[in-house]
Amino acid sequence: MPEPSLLSRRLIFLTGKGGVGKTTVAFALAQAAASSGRRTLVADLQGSGDTREVEVAPGLMHVSIDPQSAMEQYLSVQVPAPAAHLLRQSHLFAAFAMATPGMRELLCMGKFWELAQHERRTADAEPYDLVVVDAPASGHGAALLRAPRTFAEIARVGPIAHQARTIAQTFADPDFTAVLAVTTAEEMPVTETLELQDSLKRGPDPLKLHAVILNALYPRRFSDADTHTLEALRNRGRTSTELRTILDAALAEHARARSQERQEERLRLAFPDRLLTLPYLFEPELKLPQVALLAAELDAQLVGGN
Ligand SMILES: Nc1ncnc2c1ncn2[C@@H]1O[C@H](COP(=O)(O)OP(=O)(O)O)[C@@H](O)[C@H]1O
Ligand SMILES: [Mg+2]
Repeated sequence: MPEPSLLSRRLIFLTGKGGVGKTTVAFALAQAAASSGRRTLVADLQGSGDTREVEVAPGLMHVSIDPQSAMEQYLSVQVPAPAAHLLRQSHLFAAFAMATPGMRELLCMGKFWELAQHERRTADAEPYDLVVVDAPASGHGAALLRAPRTFAEIARVGPIAHQARTIAQTFADPDFTAVLAVTTAEEMPVTETLELQDSLKRGPDPLKLHAVILNALYPRRFSDADTHTLEALRNRGRTSTELRTILDAALAEHARARSQERQEERLRLAFPDRLLTLPYLFEPELKLPQVALLAAELDAQLVGGN
């Protein structure tokens, strides 16, 4: 059976260095999915305190998860009502559970897992066709992905170990979940992306990066011949200060585009056929129309088998 297309999976897990555009890309992917009629949710871990699922555009919802309320929901759904009530009352239990290494990560992953199920566990909750996880920066993102498996190994038996195993399997199932890295074409984020790929590959059941989204690429406006002309003008003794300022700006932009090309090349070597690119948008702020533009761009690149 051929691999399902990216947007027809049920979970997309996005990670990458802070500031590279993860949130923007999460909404662009979600927008692309919503436009094709999929009920889509962007889930993050901002922990703003409000954990309701809110519609931000037609067919596009957003939710922030926080481990504490994920714990409370877990207890109310998984544990028979009277016991859950008692457990919820027990601050000691909650404090103990929350202090268990990996428990917060497991709870967040469990919540993402629950959101992506056809049959939601929470009463009255509508199912989603696709959940896009706007995960924290690479290091923490990888730790999140690994948490269910680690937990299952440590706990071994019992209901939590069993659930952790189910969650781990769901995230490792490439038909269900796609793990994506977002990066910009700069040295550090690209290095982190390569390291992320390596760290995901290690261990007993390795995860694979489905694709890398290279965000905010500058246009290359000048050819090498153009640049030589600009440099020659720049270095001529007679050039006025004003013209020199303009030439410097043009040359600096060219240098930046060239440097981005070198970083793009590093990514292409590591991820041939698995690199999607998005342009830098020269806007003071990205709002829904700009996100829609990025969505269309991703959509166009996804047609053709990604
Ligand atoms: N393709 C792009 N073109 C222009 N600006 C972008 C682009 N992608 C993201 N940005 C801007 O960069 C900043 C960081 O983006 P954001 O999505 O919040 O990153 P992250 O979630 O990785 O921290 C925001 O101001 C956003 O509007
Ligand atoms: Mg963000």
